[in-house]
Amino acid sequence: MMKRTLEPSEALRDNDADICVAVSKKHSRWVDRPFLRKAMAMAAGRRQALDIGCGNGHIAIELATYCPDLNVFAMDLSEDMVEAVRQNAATARVGDRVAPVLGDAVRLPFPDNSVDLVLSLHAVHHFPDPQSALREIRRVLAPNGAALIRDVRRPRTPLLASLLANGFGFLLRYGADVRRKYLESLHAALTAKELETAARAAGLEGFRVVQEQWHHVDLTIPACPAPATGILHAKPNN
Ligand SMILES: C[S@@+](CC[C@H](N)C(=O)[O-])C[C@H]1O[C@@H](n2cnc3c(N)ncnc32)[C@H](O)[C@@H]1O
Repeated sequence: MMKRTLEPSEALRDNDADICVAVSKKHSRWVDRPFLRKAMAMAAGRRQALDIGCGNGHIAIELATYCPDLNVFAMDLSEDMVEAVRQNAATARVGDRVAPVLGDAVRLPFPDNSVDLVLSLHAVHHFPDPQSALREIRRVLAPNGAALIRDVRRPRTPLLASLLANGFGFLLRYGADVRRKYLESLHAALTAKELETAARAAGLEGFRVVQEQWHHVDLTIPACPAPATGILHAKPNN
């Protein structure tokens, strides 16, 4: 099994809105939409959600758009991203229910037992210490809280990683910088087994780790039902 290699730290500083927006636009239909469907199913009946490593806030904003009773904290380590969330939420007219938060996954700026739903998409591979981040999620989750953590899954070999990055890069017409970043993400990602071990060591209970699509892994609390389908056809008027 190929060893985990964190992305260079400059990559995080350079992980600016442009690349994030480019990537999410490219794979929105294949990755972000299914994630959003599952998140919406889990958000039913809940009052607030926290998106960790939210990037430009597109998931938080869509979730707030489709779930009019939900308040979403959109948290990121990058000030640029937090500013992008502020602007994008205002443009989408959900600025009153999407709160941009500057914060680190390993020191969540939320009280114990306070969050109904924790979400995170494509962020765990950035964390040098995923177990600490998962321990923080356990701390802030309210009783009966839910979580959906999805990230890419580390391939077994560098060759497979390269085939994936270049295969998707070709199909989705990623530019060279996005392909490089995707490849680095694959090298930095956890395996399903590592995610499960980290969750157990963090003291999470009632979770399930499943391979999702074939190059992603989901950690869900509670063990999640099958994703709802056919619910993203029409946006409610707002
Ligand atoms: C690949 S982007 C994904 C963004 C968004 N979730 C999406 O799916 O488009 C990863 C994000 O995680 C953020 N991030 C990295 N390390 C973090 C940390 N320790 N705490 C919070 N956010 C972090 C980065 O700034 C970046 O915006």
